[in-house]
Amino acid sequence: MNDGATQAATIGVVGDVHLFWDDEDVAFFNRGGYDLLLFVGDLSGYTRVRGHRVMRSLRKLRVPAMCIPGNHDGLHALQLGAEIVPRAHRFRDVFCRGQTRRCASLHKALGDVELVAYSRRRLTPAGIPLNVVVGRPHSIGGRRLACLRYLVKAYGIDSMESSIARLKSLVDACDEAPILFLAHNGPSGLGDRADSIWGCDFRRKEEDWGDRDLEEAVRYANTNGRKVLATVAGHMHRKTKSGRRRPAQMEKDGVLYVNAAEVPRHRKVNGAKRRHHVRLTVTAGGVSAEDLWV
Ligand SMILES: [Fe+2]
Repeated sequence: MNDGATQAATIGVVGDVHLFWDDEDVAFFNRGGYDLLLFVGDLSGYTRVRGHRVMRSLRKLRVPAMCIPGNHDGLHALQLGAEIVPRAHRFRDVFCRGQTRRCASLHKALGDVELVAYSRRRLTPAGIPLNVVVGRPHSIGGRRLACLRYLVKAYGIDSMESSIARLKSLVDACDEAPILFLAHNGPSGLGDRADSIWGCDFRRKEEDWGDRDLEEAVRYANTNGRKVLATVAGHMHRKTKSGRRRPAQMEKDGVLYVNAAEVPRHRKVNGAKRRHHVRLTVTAGGVSAEDLWV
């Protein structure tokens, strides 16, 4: 219950699902308590058939929800391989063919869960005014734009620079309400170690694997009189390849950054199945994030 003094919006942030979602998750969120759900993408695994089981379940949600596509969403296995494996990079453009159709099918399968990218939404969850700025879809991290051919066709984005310009224009479109950024991969500038919040853990050389366009957009907003509450993303799983743990959240320059990618998000804890999400609490005064296993 909200009154003027304690008015708060409760936003559920669901990290990379990677098929770990079922009707029990739907039942939990449909029981109430959340004003908005944000999915940071990677609903699917490596095959689209199993991904569609997740979509069929997600469309039963009765809470307003939006999802940014990850690098596992709308791509087939060969395309994903071509984006990831350097020797196969030359096939990236070829395998991008059909992505428009695949994304349309994803969009349709999700029902009322809005598939969002390069967009800005003005919302008032629980009466709290909020601009949600959504970043680049299908991000794979690092310096290269994944699915470039598709980004050109669908969004007119052909480079990191044009992506920066698009995100800044979305910030310009925001009104005076605070901003929350939703992205698949997090921004660069938050650490260059393998276990940094968006650091690279799959190469010998440790480096920052965040998205530069997102970093530039957040900085642009933050230094132009906007109030940036938080940036929520995933992609770089919290448990690194060497078994270390990234921070789940951190704060820099007054912005809260949340990496929600707890994978797998279904786990047995003391014999009972638990499900992960992050609860963001937004008030007129600020924001906080709390990890929950329910
Ligand atoms: Fe991902």
